[in-house]
Amino acid sequence: IKLSAQMALAKPISKLLTGVFFEDINYAADGGLYAELIQNRDFEYHPSDKSYDDKNWNSKYAWSLKGDKATFTVDSLNGIHLNNPHYALLKVNEPGASLCNTGFDAITVKKGETYHFSTFAKAFEGKNISLTVNLVSAKQGVLAQKKLSISSGSWKVLKTSLISLSNAKDVSLEITVNSVGSLGLDMVSLFPEKTYKGHKNGLRADLATTIANIKPKFVRFPGGCVAHGDGIDNIYKWKNSIGPLESRKPDRNLWGYHQTMGLGYFEYFQFCEDMGAEPVPVIAAGVPCQNSGTGGGGQQGGIPMSEMPQYIQDIIDLVEYANGAINTKWGKKRAEAGHPKPFNLKYIGIGNEDQITEVFKERFTMIYKALQKAHPEITVIGSAGPFFEGTDYEEGWKIGSDLKVPILDEHYYQSPGWFINNQDFYDQYDRSKSKVYLGEYAASLPGGNRTNWETSLSEALYMTSLERNGDVVSMASYAPLIAKEGHTQWNPDLIYFNNDEVKPTPGYYVQKVYGQNAGDQYIPADLILTDQPEKVRKRIAYSIVKDSETNSIIIKIVNLLPVSVNTTIDLGEVKIDGIVATKATLVGKPTDKTVTQTIDPVTLKKDSPINLPAYSFTMVRFVGN
Ligand code: AHR
Repeated sequence: IKLSAQMALAKPISKLLTGVFFEDINYAADGGLYAELIQNRDFEYHPSDKSYDDKNWNSKYAWSLKGDKATFTVDSLNGIHLNNPHYALLKVNEPGASLCNTGFDAITVKKGETYHFSTFAKAFEGKNISLTVNLVSAKQGVLAQKKLSISSGSWKVLKTSLISLSNAKDVSLEITVNSVGSLGLDMVSLFPEKTYKGHKNGLRADLATTIANIKPKFVRFPGGCVAHGDGIDNIYKWKNSIGPLESRKPDRNLWGYHQTMGLGYFEYFQFCEDMGAEPVPVIAAGVPCQNSGTGGGGQQGGIPMSEMPQYIQDIIDLVEYANGAINTKWGKKRAEAGHPKPFNLKYIGIGNEDQITEVFKERFTMIYKALQKAHPEITVIGSAGPFFEGTDYEEGWKIGSDLKVPILDEHYYQSPGWFINNQDFYDQYDRSKSKVYLGEYAASLPGGNRTNWETSLSEALYMTSLERNGDVVSMASYAPLIAKEGHTQWNPDLIYFNNDEVKPTPGYYVQKVYGQNAGDQYIPADLILTDQPEKVRKRIAYSIVKDSETNSIIIKIVNLLPVSVNTTIDLGEVKIDGIVATKATLVGKPTDKTVTQTIDPVTLKKDSPINLPAYSFTMVRFVGN
């Protein structure tokens, strides 16, 4: 085959094309990206969190008492905060009882590394109580130990640091009470010193680095369905997720567990800033998932109209929280959290895959118009509604177009065949209408093994068409991003992990090639592939982009054929003869769960072929002349 580029026809494309979609699904936040090692640190787990797999889900979850001369109950009289009323009440009749926490599937520690312990504590009789904080490995015994004492009859924060003597994956936290008396403990926390970029209350370094290595241009958060919840009361409220940790309001996660909100809007903004990615918060459009809430006052399915003004104000306040001066009400809160400089919020998503009912339309329109009026500088991303289900998708586009919403969010999860056969999906999109944010997509197979190299390669192939249509497709993000082994509600995901390993899928490496090799101009090219049937042609896809900042030309070619193919490249006035390029190849068998990656320097020669192995994704990048 021969690829002939037409440099003169280069067109600008979105600089934000490859981003990530972070949803708190699959234990992505607590027990996942959020580095807190203690599970149920706030004693706020509740049976209504509806854990699918655990009948013992209650305020004592992950906690136990060692020693029989003591009692452990959970109380809520005079707790540390209205949003966090429950705490552990220990009555110790003989020194030596321990309150133990098993973490999220145990705690993993590394030899020589520091772990910061903190807790709110009070001594009910007001007399001094001595504690020993231990990290205890089931196999190796005590790995670290420190003494603390409670001397106050009112809630006070106690802190200490522990250094582990050894590597271990089977650790629990044990707080031993060395005195007789009654004490309360709450917000019991253990954080590794090493977090991503070293932030306090930070993110797990290995997972965050893996995400950052995609070089995402934006991050959508906190969902997905988590953003709009499964009822009005479950709509994610950003104001509940900021401020001192003990004052944040935990919530039931609709995926069947508990959200502490420890990873909240401040931390999301900070993560985006650390990665150089645009923050894209998604806020419910006044309706929960499938308009499923009871609104009261005859407004079944949406936030009651009487509450909409406050709901809208909360969204306007979000812009002030992110961007406002430090003497504004919400800007001050950001500064108090340690970030006086604005976060430069430019995009807000309103709605997530909602049914486009009258209830939705009315509320979306109110929010959109009010936000536009208060903050015309913010680009609103609306929702196109569920794809291929009834008429919602067309209805979503209709209301989006009528209101001239700048960008609409589309979602689709399809088979590899769908992605191969629909490469022209955006070619005919009307360029005069809203732009597209392909907010959730993934190729998947039926059954248990839902992802392999073939699904990833079909995504790579489809992504060439996103670059080709980068004038109308502004942003795209694979979904979901991360999933904890043993706690996965949705398959496939881009990155799997457990307490000490991060396991990117082949699709991750595809996203990384696109994220690290993005361009701002698309260079049309002709693929000369003579005498081949349509089904063969469809299995070779390409895109050529230019990154103006580095003056780089980037060629991506997907070969989904079972045979290797040679291609020559003609870039017209860009002379490639003798140019040294970086060539990255991802290759595997269609059923493989892993992919082989090679990165080599190559010297390009006019008319000398580049070999595209069977089932491969090849990227060639060089600085143009
Ligand atoms: O990505 C998983 C889920 O898929 C999201 O929460 C939802 O928006 C979609 O249905």
